[in-house]
Parts: sequence; structure tokens; C-alpha cells
Amino acid sequence: MKDLAEKHIVLGLSGGIACYKSAELCRLLIKAGASVQVVMTQAAEQFMTPVTMQALSQRPVYGSQWDTRAANNMAHINLTREADLCLMAPASADLIAKLAHGQADDLLSLMCLARPADRVPLLIAPAMNREMWQHPATQRNVAQVQADGALVLGVGHGDQACGETGDGRMLEPLELLDEVIAFFQPKLLTGQHLLVTAGPTYEAIDPVRGITNLSSGKMGFAIARAARESGATVTLVAGPVSLPTPRGVHRVNVQSARDMLAAVTAHEPQASVFIATSAVADWRPASASAAKIKKEGSGQPPELQFVENPDILASLAQSERGKSRALYCVGFAAESHDLLVNAQAKRQRKGVPLLVGNIGPDTFGQDDNSLLLVDEVGTRELSRDSKLALARKLIAEIAQRLAVGASA
Ligand code: CTP
Repeated sequence: MKDLAEKHIVLGLSGGIACYKSAELCRLLIKAGASVQVVMTQAAEQFMTPVTMQALSQRPVYGSQWDTRAANNMAHINLTREADLCLMAPASADLIAKLAHGQADDLLSLMCLARPADRVPLLIAPAMNREMWQHPATQRNVAQVQADGALVLGVGHGDQACGETGDGRMLEPLELLDEVIAFFQPKLLTGQHLLVTAGPTYEAIDPVRGITNLSSGKMGFAIARAARESGATVTLVAGPVSLPTPRGVHRVNVQSARDMLAAVTAHEPQASVFIATSAVADWRPASASAAKIKKEGSGQPPELQFVENPDILASLAQSERGKSRALYCVGFAAESHDLLVNAQAKRQRKGVPLLVGNIGPDTFGQDDNSLLLVDEVGTRELSRDSKLALARKLIAEIAQRLAVGASA
């Protein structure tokens, strides 16, 4: 099932150069399963034609409160009655000012005011020059629309069409799509702070060589995204992987197991849940050479000595907070065989309430996986699905266990 299946979104465009991004946003929303009704201000039509938006949305675009196409001549009422969400992208300084004051002198502002606010949420993606954005009048208006219940999605930072650099760019279409998808996810972990490790670690032998584990980091990144979608604050400690940071997630990049332990230890006191998906290298070279180890034609490989790395999960699970479950610890087990037996044994050994097993070679680098959840009560299989879908199911499983723990 697509992320926005059966969702009807009213996409409002007000005047700004960012309108060019809204064409792509419209396409992405539809690709994700939504139906999209576009409403444009006259100013928006200076930047993007209704023809383009009609072709992309496959629906006539509305732009005037005097539009006679609606039988009752009340486009401002009709447009939102079937909507699941109104998204203003771009929302100009002028539109936000109108919304803040309840002005309704064009179709878009009139429609926002006339929408059933209790069941049709309003999301706002501001777009404007940096001076306009930081002006006290704009910030006052933003605070007011938030107080009135709108969700303001924030702005991007960078080069602006006017040639200046700063805050005020509209978020990119993919970022807005992720925000809309996140908006519809159940807020199961509001108030929780999740700390997630992901990816492999890299243990240097010398400045050009090292040992590592097979891990793309995709499962851990999907869990970080799903946790944020469910309302949690998320810190993601990532080994060397080239994956984009999920929106709204605080990422800390590390290399070695010891770096990972240091980052986890620094963030653990704020966390209420720790999910260790990282494929931590079990051993590291006893001493990394500062200079490249040369072959020098001797025919003799270097003698490498290894020492064991700290077990990050076990040390947190066996800490005071871990044992009392003030920090709820979730481990992963990447096995090659005998998943159930190995996962049960690993859960005991690590001392975690929940362990998630998977067959490593079946999933490394892929976009899907299947999971076996093992806890003190029994086991549960999450059948093969995309990593994001599995991550959302796992978050729901964790939320359920936290709720039981809290009421116990
Ligand atoms: N883990 C960890 N620190 C380590 C090793 C593992 O935090 N030094 C965590 C992993 O992130 C995972 C769990 O422990 O959540 C199990 O990792 P795995 O590699 O499957 O198990 P190992 O403890 O390494 O045991 P074995 O190699 O014997 O299977």
C-alpha cells in the first residue's frame, strides 16, 4: 500500500519563485498515492501556469472565489470538505500574514479560513527572502498561525533566488513529501527519545586499510525515520554509510566501535529507548599503524594482532538505566542460520527485553527484509516487507511494550 493511498490533499500555491518546486511536489504526492487538488493565488500564476498544475494533478485548478464551475458557486467551501490535509507550498509572507489575521480576500485565504479546522489540518511550507523571513512581523504571524493550530514545516537554508544566502527557502519537494507522509503516521512515541545505532563500524589497520562488516545501514536508517514519524526525538549514531539523513533526525557520524560507544554514551542519558542495529566489528587491530604498512616485496604478510571491541548494546542493557528499563534496550541479531535459537540465546546474553533477529545474507544491502521478534513472552514474525514498512511495525511493537511497562 502506498504511503498516501486514499489521502486527498489540497495543495495551495501562493506567489513565490518556489512555485517551480510545487510542480514536482504535486507529482511526488500523486506518486505516493494521494489525490491532489491545486488552488493558486493570482500571484502564484505569475510563477507557474495553472495548465502545468492541472496536467500534473489531473484536475482543474481553482484560482478565484468567483469561479462559476461549482454548481453552488462556493469553491471556498467545497474544496476542503473531502480533504485530509491542506498544504500551503509555497506559503508567501503575504499568505501567512493573511492566515494570521483571518483575512479572506482571495480564494486560497478564504478557503483556509472556511475549512473545517477540527478535521482538516493545515500544513505550511514558507518560502521567502531571508530578510522577509526573519522580520518580526513574519515571525509574529508564524507564531500566530501555529497558535491557531497550523503546522509550520520550517524553511531551508542556502542560496536564494534573489542572490542572497540565508534562511527562507522552501523545503525541497522530497522533504515536503516526507513531512506529509510523517504527518499521517500514528504518533505512538510522542515524548520518547530514541537513540539508534546503524551501519557498520570501520577499524583502521593503517591510514589506507581497515576491517569492517557488511551492513548498508538501511534498516537502522528506516527505524530512525519511522521513530521520528511516530513523534519521537531521534538521535542516529551512524557508522560509515552513504545514506541521506532522515528528515528531523539528529545524526552523529562515527567510524570505529569505540567512537560509536563514545557517541552513544554521550547521548544515552537523554534517551528512553536504545535500538542497536549497527553491525559493530567484534575485533579491531591491537594497534593501528600511523603510516601505511608497505609490502616491500618481502612476500610476508604483516602479523596483525586483534583485540575485542566493547559491546555497546550489552554495556547499556546492563547499566542501571538499562536494567530498570528506564532505557528500553532493543538488540538486533544478524545470523546466517538457526535464527530462532541464536536470537533467543543472544537476547539472554545481551540482557535485552527485546531482540530482533534477521538472516544477514538474505537482507544485506537490500530494501526489504523479514524480522523475528523475541522477547520474554515469546516470538513474533514480521513477514517480508520493505525495511521502512518493517521499521514502522517494529516501532508499533516497541510502543506497545513501553505502554505495558508504563502501566505495570
Ligand atoms: N553489538 C554492539 N556492540 C558490539 C557487538 C554487537 O552493540 N561490539 C550489538 C549489535 O548492534 C546488535 C547486537 O549487539 O544489536 C548483536 O550483534 P551481533 O553482531 O549479531 O552479535 P555479536 O554480539 O557480535 O555476537 P556473535 O558475533 O557471536 O553472533
